Amino acid sequence: MPDNKKFYTLFDNENGNSYEIPVLDGTVGPDVLDITNLYKESGLFTYDPGFTSTASCKSKITYIDGEQGILRHRGYDIKELAENSNFMEVCYLLLHGDLPSTEDQNKFRDAITNHTMINEQLMFLYRGFKRGAHPMAIMVGVVGALSAFYHDSTDINDPNQRMIASHRLIAKMPTIGAMAYKYSIGQPYVYPKNELTYSENFLNMMFAVPTQKYKVNKVLAKAIDKFFILHSDHEQNASTSTVRLAGSSNANPFACIAAGIASLWGPAHGGANEAVIKMLSKIGSKDKINEFIEKSKDKNDPFRLMGFGHRVYKNYDPRAAVMKKTAHEVLEELNIKNDPLLEIALELEKIALNDEYFIEKKLYPNVDFYSGIILKAMGIPINMFTVLFAIGRTAGWVSQWKEMIEDPIKKIGRPRQLYIGENTRSYKPEEKREKISLFKRLWFK
Ligand code: ACO
Repeated sequence: MPDNKKFYTLFDNENGNSYEIPVLDGTVGPDVLDITNLYKESGLFTYDPGFTSTASCKSKITYIDGEQGILRHRGYDIKELAENSNFMEVCYLLLHGDLPSTEDQNKFRDAITNHTMINEQLMFLYRGFKRGAHPMAIMVGVVGALSAFYHDSTDINDPNQRMIASHRLIAKMPTIGAMAYKYSIGQPYVYPKNELTYSENFLNMMFAVPTQKYKVNKVLAKAIDKFFILHSDHEQNASTSTVRLAGSSNANPFACIAAGIASLWGPAHGGANEAVIKMLSKIGSKDKINEFIEKSKDKNDPFRLMGFGHRVYKNYDPRAAVMKKTAHEVLEELNIKNDPLLEIALELEKIALNDEYFIEKKLYPNVDFYSGIILKAMGIPINMFTVLFAIGRTAGWVSQWKEMIEDPIKKIGRPRQLYIGENTRSYKPEEKREKISLFKRLWFK
């Protein structure tokens, strides 16, 4: 019997064997069955597509209670962080485990500020992309290519190199993202400026041009900073799990973050904020809302209400509440009165939150529902929305990667499977094979 106080017994009806499965306690949240030795002891695997019931690691970084709508980083509530903190401080918190002292904050800010430029040689890589390439395609390529430039921070076993790589990634992401945008519209790149804050610097690199002075609007920079905070980490989501899995083979951090960016690009994950704006534009007017709500409930129609529902939150996404308030602040600052998209969004939210189907399935607005409205009002092009998500999430990716590398029980990630293919069979000579081409059957149904 295991030493743990609590365990579950798995009973095999067929042969009468039983196996003790220890239970692990977290600080908060559900208990976890420790099946590490299950295969060795019983010859059994577990089956959990989409990891809906599987904890892939132990982590001290982020806690989510989806039923209650709680999100905390290192114990601090997301609402409190968004209202009182700034993105640099949150990056420090995620990476190091606590809020920085004034001295540490200054040192960290300096470290990030002094890594914002990218190697000039990388400009040639940008030139290789077709104009109009999706900026996320450029991000995957350029971030992956960083490992070809920063050899002095790819030794994952050296804590100092791990730290420098983390700083470089957080610092260079806004530069790489803004350059992808400038390249796509054929404008000259704008170099980073050290006197600006992280978020001001990003807006400057996005919107300044050499021909005239550009003054960053403080309210908009604050809104972008909040956006980065709200997207900074979200425990073991698809892109973070991708970063951890890639890193588990000891791959270098730049390659791992490029893998995370590729995963984030999908519309079911980071691409949803783009999809929300397209959907609100398609709805077009308030009187069409009911039609779209009905469409989203129709089992025979693949349409879903974008910005609604979440794998983990079965309550109002706490990030959506902050985004909603920020959306109003941004529209007021820009003097956008009666924004039709916001009006449709507010009405849609009201109707959906009172609809039986959405109540029963616990479908609430997620963070993407309001973030697109803010970004669009600020003049950020729709295909850059996911790039902004990637910039914010880099803080979480590098923190989770660092935690994994420093975990004494780190193992290469290697899931198993339930094999359902052919059992063993003998090689069939060509003349005895089926007449209908397998290729045709598979591809031209
Ligand atoms: N509109 C209408 N019905 C929905 C929606 C929606 N947005 N989301 C879920 N449902 C329904 C499903 O059809 C399903 O119905 P059923 O039980 O009758 O089969 C039920 O609610 C449960 O949904 P699942 O798809 O099983 O939930 P899952 O956890 O797999 O999906 C997801 C979560 C992918 C986020 C889903 O809610 C969705 O597609 N939402 C729209 C896209 C979106 O906003 N994504 C952003 C996620 S947040 C982020 O990445 C930052």
